[in-house]
Parts: sequence; C-alpha cells; structure tokens
Amino acid sequence: MTSERRDVLHSWCVQAEWDAPTVTGGTGAFFHDENGRRYLDMSSLAECTTLGHQHPAVVRAIRDQAEKLCFVTAAWGAEPRARLAEQLLEKSGFTGGRVFFTLGGADANEHAVKFARQARRKPRGWVVGRDRSYHGASYATMAFSRDARTQHLIDAAEWRAAHVPSPYAYRCPFGSASEEECAERAARSVGEAIDARGADEVAAVLMEPNAGTNGIVPPDRYWTLLREETRRRGVLLIADEVMSAFGRCGEWFAWQRHGEAGRPDIMTLAKGLTGAHVPLGAVVLSRKVAAHLEGEMLPTGLTYCGHPLACAAGVAALRAYEDEGLIERSRILGARMLAMLREVQERVPAIGDVRGGHGLFAVVELVKDRTTREPVAAWPQVHPALRAFVERGREAGVSFAVQGNLVILAPPLVIGEADLTDALGLMERLLMELSWS
Ligand SMILES: Cc1ncc(COP(=O)(O)O)c(C=O)c1O
Repeated sequence: MTSERRDVLHSWCVQAEWDAPTVTGGTGAFFHDENGRRYLDMSSLAECTTLGHQHPAVVRAIRDQAEKLCFVTAAWGAEPRARLAEQLLEKSGFTGGRVFFTLGGADANEHAVKFARQARRKPRGWVVGRDRSYHGASYATMAFSRDARTQHLIDAAEWRAAHVPSPYAYRCPFGSASEEECAERAARSVGEAIDARGADEVAAVLMEPNAGTNGIVPPDRYWTLLREETRRRGVLLIADEVMSAFGRCGEWFAWQRHGEAGRPDIMTLAKGLTGAHVPLGAVVLSRKVAAHLEGEMLPTGLTYCGHPLACAAGVAALRAYEDEGLIERSRILGARMLAMLREVQERVPAIGDVRGGHGLFAVVELVKDRTTREPVAAWPQVHPALRAFVERGREAGVSFAVQGNLVILAPPLVIGEADLTDALGLMERLLMELSWS
C-alpha cells in the first residue's frame, strides 16, 4: 500500500505531524477525499483554485491541447502561448508590452527582478520590499520577501534586497492614528528607503497590491502613493499579483482598482492564471520595460517556460472568467462577505479586525482582547485553538485556511451564496466555542 505520510516530503509543516486526507476529486467550490467526504473549499486551497475544482472548460482545453501538442521549447512558437500573451496584454492594458511565462509565482518574481535590473542596466540594483511580505520560497524570493518562517535562512542584503515597514493599519508600525496616515507614512518610507541607497542604485520596488498570505490589506490610498514615490525616482514598480489577480480582489488585476494612477511597470501572475489546473506563472512587462530588453540577449529560460498545456489552460481560464462574469461576481459577493463578517465581528469577541472584501478575499484577525489588540498568538505562531478550528471545520465539511492569528477567507469565485453564508455561520460557531486565552 502506498503511504503519502511515509514517503512524501511536505511543504510548510513538521513531517511527523503531517496528517491530511487524500483528495481524489472535486467540482465547483467542493472537493472530496478518498473516503467520499466532501469539503467546501473556503480558501481555494492555496488561494489558487479560483475557478473552482475541475472546471470543465479548462479540463477540456488541456485534453484537446494534449492531443495536438504537449511540448515545444521556447525556441519555437506555440499557438496557445501567443494567444495567452495577447490576452494578458489586452486585459491589463499593457499595450505594446511583452509576457514571459514561468512555472509559478516564485520564478515569476525572480524573473521580474531580473528583467527590471536588466532594463535599468543595474545588474546588482537593489530591490525594496516590505516586512511580512511573501513572494516565494526560492532563495532569491526568500530574500525579496520578509517572511518570519524563512528570513533566518538568507542574508537579504547579499541579494541586494531591503525592506520597509508594512501599511498594516490595524497595527500601524508608524503608530498612525488613521488608515490614511498609515498609508502616507508607509508609502513615504519606500521613497526614503530608495533615497537612502540612491535612486541610481535601486532597480525596483516589489510589492503585493492587495491580498497576500500575510493578511495585510493596505489602506486604499497606499498603492497610488507608492506609485508616485517610485515614478518620481525612476524606479520600476513590480506588482506581485500572484494571489490578488483574476478576480480575487474584484478586478482582473488588483492594481486596476486604482485606475491608471496605479499602473505598475511589471506585474507577476500565477495561481488563478490557470485556476491552478496546471502550473503556470507569468511576468507582464510594460511597453517601456520591454523596449529596454529588445536589443539584448535575454540571459534566462527554464525548460518548461510557456508550456503549451499550461498556456492552453490559461486561455480557457481567461475565457471562463469572462464568460461567467466571475470578476464582477467576486466583487459583489466579496462586498456581501465583508458585510456578513462585520456582523459576525459584533458577536464574536475574539475577532479584532476584519478587512479586505474588494473581491472574495477577506481576513479575520483574532485577538485576546479587543482593546489591547493583543494577538491570540505571536506572529507567525498558530494558537492551538486555531488549529482546532481548522480540524473541526474539516469534520463539519468545510476547509478553512489559517495563517498566524488570521483566518484567510478566499473561496473559489464560483461558490454558491448559500454555501458561503453557511460557512461563515460555521466559522462564527466554532470561534465562539473555542477558548482563546
Ligand atoms: C503574493 C505571492 N507571491 C508569490 C507566491 C509564490 O508563488 P508559488 O508558490 O507559485 O511559487 C505566492 C504564493 O502563495 C504569493 O501569495
């Protein structure tokens, strides 16, 4: 008999403690395990099954492409690759730009930095990121991130990576009195970090425009202020949209909420790009950045970059978001979810803050005491009661994701409204039952 527990090395956990059911199938917002138990997916697994499980049109596109052509290297053209690039440029309004395809989010971010450095002719240019950010688990992206789980593994300065405090309004690192002030001071700190090194020494700023696993949702004005700080200094802005794109935050790409004033120079994608049906990431370059790369050899490439099966899945996924009106649906249901969560917050003393809700992405932050805002466990530790919350959720047929003292709510955009309401009801019940001292 095979044994996943014995033979597989699992990510982000202590091996001896790994204990999860084996998933054998799914449909829509539900998946099921080998014992036939069904789970409502309240986090799109790793915030990636945005279209729901086994979306029929995406599965069909993969099957059709497999019958035609499974593989060709980037040295040759591939029809679905060209089509997907064209559509991404169109949806993002990056007219005249170019798209580089990767295998996932981390390598998209690594390549975005590589391209930014090449475009600015600064092969060792600094990259400014944020505290508590997550851009991937490869060595370079561990350095660009500042994730408490991995930051001891690298010396960020050796990778020419610097970090500034986060626009975390609920616990503003600048001690601000309002969201507005927190946004202003956090954006200004990016400008100061660039000036401290000299704008000529900095290649790019790499930031998540909205959702991230850190659960920090920047105040509304932050992104456009950040854009001004970088533009004024001629530093490229890379938007890490790996989690926040494809309707997760109510737009195709989260920065679009801010209109042209929020347009980055480079954007990275993965997860929802294929709805996680097949691994695929992308780096989308503006016309200006692409023009800087036009006459030079591009010193990079991975064997599976722009794999036809993955690109065919991407083309079908984009069509599904469009045809099913899922971006707008996410915006509407996200606002409803936020309103419901605010009501739940009134009844559950352990909920200190509720944020997000621009689309079907919201964060519930748990505290021991609402007045002092003391978290139920010091970041990034997970309180035993929160682990019990996940277990009891599973027993009741709902899969919740937690991170530190946060519950991350990010269901597939196809979730039924009644299912969403039921899951929030279950969450409330469980949070009330458990002890947070
Ligand atoms: C914002 C963000 N960037 C990058 C990544 C890394 O993506 P991947 O796991 O596909 O390498 C993630 C993954 O969770 C993410 O949330």
